[in-house]
Amino acid sequence: MFYNIKVQKVTQETPETVSVTLEIPANLKEHFKYKQGQYLTFKQSINAEELRRSYSLSSSPIADENLQVAIKQVEGGKFSTWANSELKEGDVLETMTPAGNFFTEISEGQKKKYVLFGAGSGVTPLLSIIKTILAVEKESEVVLVYGNRDNANIIFNNQLNQLVGSSNGRFKRIDVLSRENNADPLFNGRIGKEKCIEIDLKHEKILDANEFFLCGPESMIMDIKGWLEASNIAKGNIHFELFTTPVASAEKTVDPNAKIMSKVTVIMDDEEFEFDLSSKGDSILDASVDAGIDVPYSCKGAVCCTCKAKVIEGSARMEMNYALDDKEVADGYVLTCQAHPTSEKCVVDYDVI
Ligand code: FES
Repeated sequence: MFYNIKVQKVTQETPETVSVTLEIPANLKEHFKYKQGQYLTFKQSINAEELRRSYSLSSSPIADENLQVAIKQVEGGKFSTWANSELKEGDVLETMTPAGNFFTEISEGQKKKYVLFGAGSGVTPLLSIIKTILAVEKESEVVLVYGNRDNANIIFNNQLNQLVGSSNGRFKRIDVLSRENNADPLFNGRIGKEKCIEIDLKHEKILDANEFFLCGPESMIMDIKGWLEASNIAKGNIHFELFTTPVASAEKTVDPNAKIMSKVTVIMDDEEFEFDLSSKGDSILDASVDAGIDVPYSCKGAVCCTCKAKVIEGSARMEMNYALDDKEVADGYVLTCQAHPTSEKCVVDYDVI
């Protein structure tokens, strides 16, 4: 469900990125409660085309009063170009309530070390996480390894510097620039496994951290994640969020030979809808939209998790999954944008989240 939310402020963060502060009305505050690292999905009609896009919150539920997202203009990006050139204070954005799994529980009295890896606008949810940890866990430390093209394009540069300054040494940032030379070559280039090994050996211990957060392009995430896993870091302590739909490692899990005609029941907002769907046809999400059901979605690319639902009877298989963890999959959750029924009766419940 989308709510009309007023834009309180649009701030130019870098030449290509704006942050958008939202004014949540008092009667919706409860609905818009969120965890550090979550995102919002917006719906906007641009040139008569309905677009849905998700953007991470940079604000902290503890340290900040208002919700704020960052929107980086991407080449050819219709929504991001519109937001960077036309969106202004006082406009109204159709907004879904916060969602996403890119967080861990933060609690007072907990003493941990967190290492965060971000590239470009991937820093957005990381900023939310950093502010929340520093505000709540007074003895925890945070290290941010942050990759950018050059200084001019470092999103939230000042805010991060202020956080370093006020953290009593609990927050460190390590900048790596790909198109600007630093005297020390350790800080030149791109963030990947090799760079992290070097940083771990020569500058700041990385592998002794309790939890890791990665947000950026797929190549960076997979490279560093592979290194962390090979270094015996438990999978459950490595949290990652992809920017866009992955292309390189699309792991197709649908059995291409299976063809079943299934009777699908969709439960949404306590209502039941039914339609027939072939296991080799549309995804459950697309078929639901065609059937006129107001199901939630955003990326349609296995990344954002907005379309999550639970298969409560029968079975379904996903083509790709970059958003649900192993436990959620074992519990029967699917990304409906990727899910196809594999049983003659398949009941999918969007209300059980
Ligand atoms: S709509 Fe984003 S994961 Fe399905």
